[in-house]
Amino acid sequence: MRSYDKFLSRAGDVMRESAIRRMGTVLAGADDMVSFAPGYPAEDTFAWAAFAEIARELLSGADGKVLQYGPTRGHRPLLDAIAGLMADRGIHATPEQLVVTTGSQQGLDLLARVLCDPGDVVLMELPSYVGAITAFRNIGTSLVGVRQDPDGINLDDLMETTARLRREGANVKALYLVPNFQNPTGLLMSLEKRRLVLAWANREDVLIIEDDPYRDLFFPDCTSEAETRPISADDTEGRVIYLSSFSKTLAPGFRIGWVSAPAPLAAKFEMAKQAEDLCSGALDQRVVYEACKRGVLARQLPLLRAHYQHKRDVMIQAVERELHGMMRWPAPRGGFFLWAHLDVPVDSETLLTHAQALGVIFVTGAAFFVDGRGSEHIRLSFSAPPPERIDLGVKRLAAAVNAALDSRTTAPAAAGPARS
Ligand SMILES: Cc1ncc(COP(=O)(O)O)c(C=O)c1O
Repeated sequence: MRSYDKFLSRAGDVMRESAIRRMGTVLAGADDMVSFAPGYPAEDTFAWAAFAEIARELLSGADGKVLQYGPTRGHRPLLDAIAGLMADRGIHATPEQLVVTTGSQQGLDLLARVLCDPGDVVLMELPSYVGAITAFRNIGTSLVGVRQDPDGINLDDLMETTARLRREGANVKALYLVPNFQNPTGLLMSLEKRRLVLAWANREDVLIIEDDPYRDLFFPDCTSEAETRPISADDTEGRVIYLSSFSKTLAPGFRIGWVSAPAPLAAKFEMAKQAEDLCSGALDQRVVYEACKRGVLARQLPLLRAHYQHKRDVMIQAVERELHGMMRWPAPRGGFFLWAHLDVPVDSETLLTHAQALGVIFVTGAAFFVDGRGSEHIRLSFSAPPPERIDLGVKRLAAAVNAALDSRTTAPAAAGPARS
């Protein structure tokens, strides 16, 4: 086969398949695999009947624009509906500040292109969302990690890292954060930390990129809506670029998200988007708009919170039963993820090999760390599998841990302590 390496740009050359997408391929080729890998919403929660009715009406042919190109910024009624959702979150956003994106993933790509030159620094928590890492890495941004505490980013490390980078002459452009039920850890950043991070960004003249797709999915048994208040809600200096999405609340297949930014930046994101896709899908935008207007979204949210809270309970009970002493995890207060630390002398890649053979997959921790660490962590997404599959998957995972430990004691090349 001909090599095309010489045709690749430097950016093309360093592009790699994401660990999560790779798991998608594994899943597609396996019959009875339990997948804790991608953070997919549960398909049985989608508002199928409402979407079918809306789509039938939209596709009647009465309005030709439903299947036409539309404005790059987005369908105006949808922009207004998004402004309403933002107001519910405490954020004042005018249509000049908003851009509808093809999933918030496109928003991340637009931000990376518009804000960063190769070598510019974006600060990321250790760990961070892999899709953001990829978007910034693809254009040659230098990603620098900052430690994380159970209540969010470690402020001392943030300040020390920034000071060091400045001494080295680095151009620190932005800090990327997922304050609500972070992907991959599920952690909720405390309100106090949000306030301090915003003050830090104002002092240091750094932008905050606040990525907030899970905000609506707080678990009412332990978290109040007030605790999810976005950093952007208290931004008086145009410091925060805010992204969110309908992927986790309506359905990711629509591929509709949005960016809210100071108007001059939003105008640049619009220009960058013109080169990427001209506009997000007109039909998708209209279905999403109708779902907002007809109250489908508002009716979904309490159901989704109850659904994922229940799955969180099933997951926690299963790991406590099966994996006690093998792993530790913080109990998620919202969102889709359980982030587990391996307390056994097995790295997550080795565990994945055994797990896959036993019919369960997850994402290995290193995918989320910009500094190459994280091999003692795994991300288990409990959102998509039904409860009985969660139980089965965790049983298989426990068997995989034991198989990995056994292979260490039997393999002659294995080094380190044997299982006690
Ligand atoms: C933190 C975070 N940001 C962005 C995205 C992308 O979402 P979408 O492009 O479907 O809106 C995801 C998806 O998992 C995510 O977890």
